[in-house]
Amino acid sequence: MTAIPKTFRVKSFGCQMNVYDGERMAELLSDSGLNAVAEGEDADVVVLNTCHIREKAAEKAYSDVGRLRREDGSKPLIALAGCVAQAEAEEARSRSPMIDVVVGPQAYHRLPQMLADAAQGHRPVDTDMPAISKFDALPKRRRATPSAFLTVQEGCDKFCTYCVVPYTRGAEISRPGSDIVAEAHALVESGAREIVLLGQNVNAWEHDERRLADLIRQLAGIDGLDRIRYTTSHPVNMGEDLIAAHGEVEKLMPYLHLPVQSGSDRVLRAMNRSHTSESYLRTIEKVRAARPDIAISGDFIVGFPGETDQEFEETLQIVDAVRYAAAYSFKYSPRPGTPAASMEDQIAREVMDDRLQRLHARIAEHQMAFNRSTVGHDTQVLIERRGKRVGQMIGRSPWLQSVFVETDAVPGDMLGVTLTAAYPNSMSGALKQQVAA
Ligand code: 5AD
Ligand code: SF4
Repeated sequence: MTAIPKTFRVKSFGCQMNVYDGERMAELLSDSGLNAVAEGEDADVVVLNTCHIREKAAEKAYSDVGRLRREDGSKPLIALAGCVAQAEAEEARSRSPMIDVVVGPQAYHRLPQMLADAAQGHRPVDTDMPAISKFDALPKRRRATPSAFLTVQEGCDKFCTYCVVPYTRGAEISRPGSDIVAEAHALVESGAREIVLLGQNVNAWEHDERRLADLIRQLAGIDGLDRIRYTTSHPVNMGEDLIAAHGEVEKLMPYLHLPVQSGSDRVLRAMNRSHTSESYLRTIEKVRAARPDIAISGDFIVGFPGETDQEFEETLQIVDAVRYAAAYSFKYSPRPGTPAASMEDQIAREVMDDRLQRLHARIAEHQMAFNRSTVGHDTQVLIERRGKRVGQMIGRSPWLQSVFVETDAVPGDMLGVTLTAAYPNSMSGALKQQVAA
């Protein structure tokens, strides 16, 4: 039996949904009487909110568990949460005897009780995907960053052959619109000026015959909410109504993250992506027709089993065709239980390294070109945090660029800024006027 824990720390890895889940777990633990301590400080309870998307991410979780042992040999109560917990459940506990609690992404509303059990010497595991939504059991939002995440949809029915998400996050499920709107109001009342709607397939959100575009239009009516974004989308769910919203809803920011994964139709078929390079490009064209200045970003996987040099060239071609403002690229990582993991022709590491490097370089060229194209624009920057230099603050442009501004403004201020210089991953801006917070 351990002493009753008093302090906690939640560390999240992986995607934005994990960041959201991490915030909700922190709120829940605060409500149950524990005090949060900052990263790096010793805590009685440590929650590792893990990611299983690639092997490296999953391995990191276990090495982080090991590092929680203190110099005197003692350790905090350790809860393994997130997608590694979901995917490995009991196995995780036997792999690392230091883990006290294993809790999956759909069961974390039970965390306080599980930690209480663990303090009594039990080692509870809960990776259920209950029919009753965890959201109903979570406390009301009371703290918000200027840009706040809000999960509206979880899970995935698409079964891309490389991906663990349908197994770790379960089937596609959409939260009711009224719950989302209530949470958005609470976030705005707690200081949010921008809301990022989250879902593994966020543009598949659908509830009572309403779709994501309808939800966005409704949220745009909230006073005090200035900006709306959503991520991550699937190309096949990019409906005409959502595309139209990009042209019509002023608060919907000109940024779209639309992963394509590969430019080769053969690879896309083997990935079970249900779109072609051509249908993807057509969608991009329509989105640009609705909102000409939109910044497009995407995800890529290099070295999918069987990918030839020519097929990789097609990926470079689609990068050139789209002219991405930003993009994320990954080496294919075989995930246990997914169809692609047992496909023949797994690609050698050196080949993947080389392709990734070439893809990075090509994306960087387009990102730099995009950033340069915005120099001279008068725009709005939502200040999020302090920069490294004294008097320097960092915020986001409508196109999601990080913008450095010399100002005495504080996080949450919306500033009129002229973009003055472009860098590979950021912009400089000069203050025009301060719009009332
Ligand atoms: N290997 C490499 N990258 C992957 N992704 C998903 N699964 C894998 C995998 N097995 C990438 C995809 C996805 C992003 C979140 O992670 O590009 O869009
Ligand atoms: Fe990682 Fe995907 Fe789970 Fe997010 S949903 S934590 S990216 S495995």
